[in-house]
Amino acid sequence: MPVPRDSRAIGVFDSGLGGLTAVRELCRALPGESIVYFGDTARLPYGTKSRDTVTRFSLEIATFLVRRNIKCLLVACNTASSYALESLERRLEVPVVGVIEPAARAAVAQSLHGRIGVLGTPATVASRAYPDAIAKLAPGASVISSACPLFVPLIEEGWIDHPVLREIATEYLIEVRAARLESLILGCTHYPLIAPLLHDLLGEGVQLVDSGAEAARATALLLRERGQLAAGPARHQFFLSDERIHFQRIAESFLGHELPAITVVDQTDLPWFERPMAIRESGA
Ligand code: DGL
Repeated sequence: MPVPRDSRAIGVFDSGLGGLTAVRELCRALPGESIVYFGDTARLPYGTKSRDTVTRFSLEIATFLVRRNIKCLLVACNTASSYALESLERRLEVPVVGVIEPAARAAVAQSLHGRIGVLGTPATVASRAYPDAIAKLAPGASVISSACPLFVPLIEEGWIDHPVLREIATEYLIEVRAARLESLILGCTHYPLIAPLLHDLLGEGVQLVDSGAEAARATALLLRERGQLAAGPARHQFFLSDERIHFQRIAESFLGHELPAITVVDQTDLPWFERPMAIRESGA
């Protein structure tokens, strides 16, 4: 019997360029798959925004990607996965994979006594998405979370080996280090780039869980189960909502190799331009 094939692309989105760490893992796991990536560089960061705003942005981007005929959506952004996954699943006809559940599952599998840590943006930590997902999988687990707002700008600045980053990480990890963890979830697109530093600070005994890599594996499994894998040739398209300074350098550090052409979208082509402008009445 012929193996079913689906040559449509996988849609991937993030608040910016960080989601390219997940794309890198997706390419490793599924080299024959085409990918359409959207990075919302016009509106990042998401990590300090509210649930409503991140959900609205996520639905708008999903609409943009669905119009490009994707077969599934990978939400690479941890903040968007924390806040908007249920809304996306409710509203989209294609299957949606977030980073939270796959990373929680991997962390539980690597923690014999359920001592798990989570690092993330302030929004991801405030959402409690990771502790809630872990509690469903391992009700007795204890979870320590730490918001690390300064990591993203420093990583984007390329200060990965800088002593300032080490000093800040040491401060952020005080509670986490005291908790004698077995596994630590890197709950942000950017953190895989500083895995060697975190490993160094935490020691051999703590397993680091890359949420993007786990989500890429979950996507591979989903497509395999649904008989929707593609046989190549892979075609990758990258869209950004705005240009940004040094984006080539930053993108390449996340992707691990030179980036093919990027399209900066004409904002009038984006679904959010179709919303009528809110009318504010003053003095009424
Ligand atoms: N991509 C975001 C995340 O993984 C980090 C950057 C941001 O705050 O927008 O949560």
